[in-house]
Amino acid sequence: MTPLPDPSPEARAHSERVAAHIRDEIARGGGWIGFAHFMELALYAPGLGYYMAGARKLGAEGDFTTAPELSALYGHTLARAAAAALAAPDDEILEIGAGTGALAASLLEELERLGRLPRRYLIVELSPELRARSRDTLAARVPHLMERVAWLNGLPPAVSGFVIGNEVLDAMPVHVVRANGGKKTGAIEEAGVALGAGGAFEWAYRPATGEVARVARALALPDGYTTEIGLVASAFVASLARTIERGVALFVDYGFPRREYYHPQRNRGTLMCHYRHRAHDDPFFLPGLQDITAHVDFTAIAEAARTAGADVLGYTTQAQLLVNCGLTEVMSRIPPADVQRYLPLAAAANKLTSPSEMGELFKAIAFGRGEADDLAAFRSGDRRHTL
Ligand SMILES: C[S@@+](CC[C@H](N)C(=O)[O-])C[C@H]1O[C@@H](n2cnc3c(N)ncnc32)[C@H](O)[C@@H]1O
Repeated sequence: MTPLPDPSPEARAHSERVAAHIRDEIARGGGWIGFAHFMELALYAPGLGYYMAGARKLGAEGDFTTAPELSALYGHTLARAAAAALAAPDDEILEIGAGTGALAASLLEELERLGRLPRRYLIVELSPELRARSRDTLAARVPHLMERVAWLNGLPPAVSGFVIGNEVLDAMPVHVVRANGGKKTGAIEEAGVALGAGGAFEWAYRPATGEVARVARALALPDGYTTEIGLVASAFVASLARTIERGVALFVDYGFPRREYYHPQRNRGTLMCHYRHRAHDDPFFLPGLQDITAHVDFTAIAEAARTAGADVLGYTTQAQLLVNCGLTEVMSRIPPADVQRYLPLAAAANKLTSPSEMGELFKAIAFGRGEADDLAAFRSGDRRHTL
């Protein structure tokens, strides 16, 4: 791997503070913490974690770019799925992990154009810094709609309408497990973090127990196989599914159905870190300055939703979702002769839908309650049978 760019002295000092906090937690844990706990601290420790402190994170000057950041075309297109779910005058939109507010602004712009604005647009975002940025984005792009927008500290007790989360499930802490590790067949180890020479973080394995062991054992992983299980994302989806009284929740993220996720060849898992637009696989690099993610097991998400009593309403690729929601129709509003506006739009559409970019790796899953089983957003290319 080519060397990653050096952080500024201030950023390095911040990372040292994050590392010191994690070392204290490891000491409190008797010399070991599970990887999910490490990831939670590195990303979400109050005032310290990657999402909780000053790092720029999203966009060209940050560490990665997401679909809503890439182009308003994404949100303008998905607004059709939102409009279809907003059935009653009191229906609301709830966005989970709204980041900079780019998707919220695009959805509201298009829903206004369609004459289908929700009564309220609620945002649940863990990061205080991103909450402030989303307020600025919305104030700049849709100032006249600000009174409809509210930021919540957690899930509301009940919601009806449309729920959306883009690249949020992949940002939830994962447990890392290893099959056998040379021990008896069926044995599962949980990977955690301990301190090596000079206080450096290093992987350390312990016999898995409880839910981690139960879920990992059911995957029947081959000997030596290392992977992640997304228990936090599943628990979150189950809680959310219980709050939906009527309506549709749509989550878009990178990942696979279970059979593909735990394919024998993917034997080192999917953990990925992003630092200044470079992807690598070392979660211990500069804690607090880089994003850490894992792909999403969409079968687990479907199971969590069903266990909570919701129906799984569709599963498809991002490309198919956008086409079903009218991507070409939204694009056709800009005449190709208007080269200055059309070319960036065409480039964004290509990035969002091309199989070699985001089109195939990113998937969309919908679940909900009280909805018909044939959402327009999934009418072509529904792959629920693969979950
Ligand atoms: C990769 S960013 C994506 C941001 C935005 N949705 C986008 O697509 O540009 C993940 C976001 O999810 C937020 N997040 C993670 N877990 C969350 C949770 N349990 N509740 C609310 N927000 C969460 C993070 O703070 C961060 O803003």
